Amino acid sequence: MTGRWIALMRQALELAERGRYGTSPNPMVGAVLLSRSGEVVGTGTHLRCGGPHAEIFALKEGAAEGTGGTMVVTLEPCVHQGRTPPCVDALLAAGIARVVIGTRDPNPLVNGSGVEALRSAGVEVVEGVEEEACRRLNRRFFHWVATGSPYVTLKMAMTLDGKLAARGGRSQWITSEASRKEGYALREEYDALLVGVNTVLADDPRLLRHLGLNPDPQLLRVVLDTHLRTPSDAALFQRDPQGVVIFCSEGVPADRRKELEDRGAAVVEVGDDGRGQCDLRQVLRWVGAHGASSVLVEGGGEVHWSFLREGLAQSVHAFVAPLVLGGREATSAVGGAGFSSPQEAVRLRFVEVRRLEEDLVLIAEVERV
Ligand SMILES: NC(=O)c1ccc[n+]([C@@H]2O[C@H](COP(=O)([O-])OP(=O)(O)OC[C@H]3O[C@@H](n4cnc5c(N)ncnc54)[C@H](OP(=O)(O)O)[C@@H]3O)[C@@H](O)[C@H]2O)c1
Repeated sequence: MTGRWIALMRQALELAERGRYGTSPNPMVGAVLLSRSGEVVGTGTHLRCGGPHAEIFALKEGAAEGTGGTMVVTLEPCVHQGRTPPCVDALLAAGIARVVIGTRDPNPLVNGSGVEALRSAGVEVVEGVEEEACRRLNRRFFHWVATGSPYVTLKMAMTLDGKLAARGGRSQWITSEASRKEGYALREEYDALLVGVNTVLADDPRLLRHLGLNPDPQLLRVVLDTHLRTPSDAALFQRDPQGVVIFCSEGVPADRRKELEDRGAAVVEVGDDGRGQCDLRQVLRWVGAHGASSVLVEGGGEVHWSFLREGLAQSVHAFVAPLVLGGREATSAVGGAGFSSPQEAVRLRFVEVRRLEEDLVLIAEVERV
């Protein structure tokens, strides 16, 4: 039977993918319902945070034929009353005889109790089918639940010689339109965007979602700005200013703080990181506690360095254009003081390498800091 469960779990994983732009900070989940005789009678996807879970959609489609059948689902069914009723109750009410699960849900409200409740009600539970793929699908959610800190990806648009901007600071545009579009698509997947204040000063970005893939147009937009240098007429404040959070050091001038708060932003004081800048651990704890399970860091080089040096970035999504800008003063993809030997370097592992029109897309995960 194992081969069949694997094939069905892969189908459930594909279904889960349909929720990529709507479920966060909830996990993505897909489900396939089989009749007693093993025919697929229903499929489901968790499409949006707060909406019905994948199992419920599959049951709706195939409840009549599902009695005595099997539910194949990428994530352990929930047992708690959240924004929706527990899926375990729905599975029991529908008379499901067997549940095949990809991975347990690390959420402390579930974490094995879904499996236990099903087994003690006499349901056969098969666990760990395509477990690695099911965990990878929700790696941001798993990281956030395990650490309380959001999963961090550094997004970089750079030249072949690793520059984020030309001498003098101009960066628009280094990469092709297709790369920029993929970069914008990432904004629809992550719960928060983060930049350093130099990027605000150089580019005056709005940091908005542009593509409409995510039904929720709003996201948290974070600026690291130790001394509150963000101008009060920054483009950031033009739309949804209440989504802007500016982190600064303790004891910033009250009038500057009020100016930015009057624009609608939240100004949050954090401790010093030992180098006179915002303590990133405190920043991430705040962001994670405010419901963001993932952060897309969009530069610049100084901020990238801080995240990598502190071991607080989990992955890098780089767009590399076939351009050389040169310039020892031009901003590098990763700035800072740098390490003094290759042995000290942060080690990553490429998980995806592809061409996108004239650019290259390199996706790597941090292995060791
Ligand atoms: N091509 C791209 O993908 C891309 C993306 C973004 C930016 N850029 C370009 O990059 C340039 C700006 O990059 P940049 O490296 O100069 O600066 P940056 O990383 O945007 O900002 C760095 C500044 O953020 C503040 N900060 C506060 N806490 C920090 C912390 N823990 N770690 C690091 N910084 C912290 C510091 O200023 P305070 O001490 O004053 O707080 C620091 O100098 C611009 O030219 C922009 O156009 C390119």
